[in-house]
Amino acid sequence: MSTRILILLSGRGSNLAALVEAAREQGWPAQVVGVISNRPQAAGLAWAHAQGLPTQAVDHQAFASRQAFDAALLAACQSYRPDLVVLAGFMRVLGTEFVRHYEGRLINIHPSLLPAFTGLHTHRRALEAGVKLAGATVHYVTPTLDHGPVIAQAVVPVLADDDESSLAERVLQAEHRLLPLAVGWHVRGELDLQEGLVHHRRGLPQSLFFPTSINPEPVMAPGPLTR
Ligand code: GRF
Repeated sequence: MSTRILILLSGRGSNLAALVEAAREQGWPAQVVGVISNRPQAAGLAWAHAQGLPTQAVDHQAFASRQAFDAALLAACQSYRPDLVVLAGFMRVLGTEFVRHYEGRLINIHPSLLPAFTGLHTHRRALEAGVKLAGATVHYVTPTLDHGPVIAQAVVPVLADDDESSLAERVLQAEHRLLPLAVGWHVRGELDLQEGLVHHRRGLPQSLFFPTSINPEPVMAPGPLTR
């Protein structure tokens, strides 16, 4: 049976594009049935429309309260009858009712190695903290912001001359590999979610390492220690 994927986004939609491409190239038993944005002008919405995907804007500014926005968003989502909802750069906090409705089938990508740097401005904060590794996390969404069972993480180095934008770009390239990997596992039924932990049923490493740059291929698991 084909999994009906609904995408929520707020911005340019490069993660959406990576997902759509992977689904096509890898022949996923899934289809993107719709793309919804809280920003009517989001470039990702225009890109989706140009691809022939059904699109809709639910402008958060048109609602007096968070609850009213959540209710309208939930109704809009339901009209697509999704099996899976993917937050691909969706920049609004979702309420408990929305999250509970899609529990176990609501996936988010966050540009940090959670649980470090939840919330906004992750790259700036990583640089300020002086960490030497950065990355991205794909996780099932729970009512607590940027928490929830981790499906997979990608690691990139923080380089000495990085600024916020160079680090963001390196992490974004990793996101484009990580999100399709994690969503592909979900739609193929390869993930086991139990007691807040996610395991790949065949034991595949749920981590990607990009030791120096995004190309060539990521290392799927750390190699043996050498001296
Ligand atoms: C990504 O870095 C995502 O993790 C963050 O917002 C960015 C969205 O990029 N939350 P795009 O819209 O997918 O290009």
